[in-house]
Amino acid sequence: MTSKHTAEYLPEVPTEISSILQGGYNHPLLREWQHERLLNKKMFIFPLFISDIPDEETLIPSLPNIKRFGINKLIPYVSKLVSKGLKSVILFGVPLKEGVKDSEGSAADDPQGPVILAIKALKLAFPDLYIMCDVCLCEYTSHGHCGVLFEDGSINTKQSVRRIAAVAVNYAKAGANCVAPSDMIDGRIKAIKQGLIDNDLAHKTFLMSYAAKFSGSLYGPFRDAACSQPGKGDRKAYQLPSGGKGLARRALIRDLNEGTDGVIVKPSTFYLDIVKDASIICQDYPICCYHVSGEYAMLHAAAEKGIVDLKSIAFESHYGFLRAGAKLIISYFTPEFLDWLDEPTPV
Ligand code: PBG
Ligand code: ZN
Repeated sequence: MTSKHTAEYLPEVPTEISSILQGGYNHPLLREWQHERLLNKKMFIFPLFISDIPDEETLIPSLPNIKRFGINKLIPYVSKLVSKGLKSVILFGVPLKEGVKDSEGSAADDPQGPVILAIKALKLAFPDLYIMCDVCLCEYTSHGHCGVLFEDGSINTKQSVRRIAAVAVNYAKAGANCVAPSDMIDGRIKAIKQGLIDNDLAHKTFLMSYAAKFSGSLYGPFRDAACSQPGKGDRKAYQLPSGGKGLARRALIRDLNEGTDGVIVKPSTFYLDIVKDASIICQDYPICCYHVSGEYAMLHAAAEKGIVDLKSIAFESHYGFLRAGAKLIISYFTPEFLDWLDEPTPV
């Protein structure tokens, strides 16, 4: 006889449970103990966009909470972050004045241009702040590409490398602690290192190569902020295709051999395997990942739609970078993390 309360099949109650993992993470403190590494303020590098309009302070619509500053507005803004524990920034110059851009990106290292003025002002105001400079020409070239071009629009490698090395050396001369070339044009690491050596700057300048930089769809908001959209074409001939794992590994090895002091992998979320590869190939070097503008904007958009909680997803994504092997993170979330890391961790 069957009743509706009696199942036909009753499994035997197991007498031996072989493994209970939950004993290891049932308390918030335990959950932090389970992390191989925890986020801390020192691993964050904050991108700053600096224009040549001295009094500018403009929100970038596609990059929530991020502003572009003129030199006169920069120090008060950074001051608040330094008092919360900001240790490092990476500078991007944005020439907005008419007639500044040319085919060689001459304005990149103009002594009166935004980057060199900002290096000097930041050093004076915050002697302990670690100042990194993105080195590229795309913000300064009339065509919007990262190097110097031949007439047919292809990259003139020798001229590009010469120009990029000169810009890097001039940033270091102005007092930059670190120069980070993001162009991906072959040969520039060797040329920059040699330039730093020739100018007696190599012993006090960190050369951080964007060694594995992929071209793709995640840089749009940055290009709005930096006005660096290429006029014609794209960057696919000098930045890696998204499936190019082997190319990334070769670029990492090549840049180590050319004398880089550290490497950047960019973007981050969709390239965690490359971060992991870098942590093995470059295990004796600081490895940085760049959570780029599109990744940041996507998380904000998802939070606005109610799909995710912003703070939780920011921690989850940044813990992913640590798991993959990153030691440093360039992140637009830095100001938030300077507050969040004073609060209980959401684990
Ligand atoms: C300049 C540069 C870019 C980024 C860092 N350095 C833009 C680009 O390559 O188009 C992108 C960073 C971001 O999207 O946040 N070459
Ligand atoms: Zn560029």
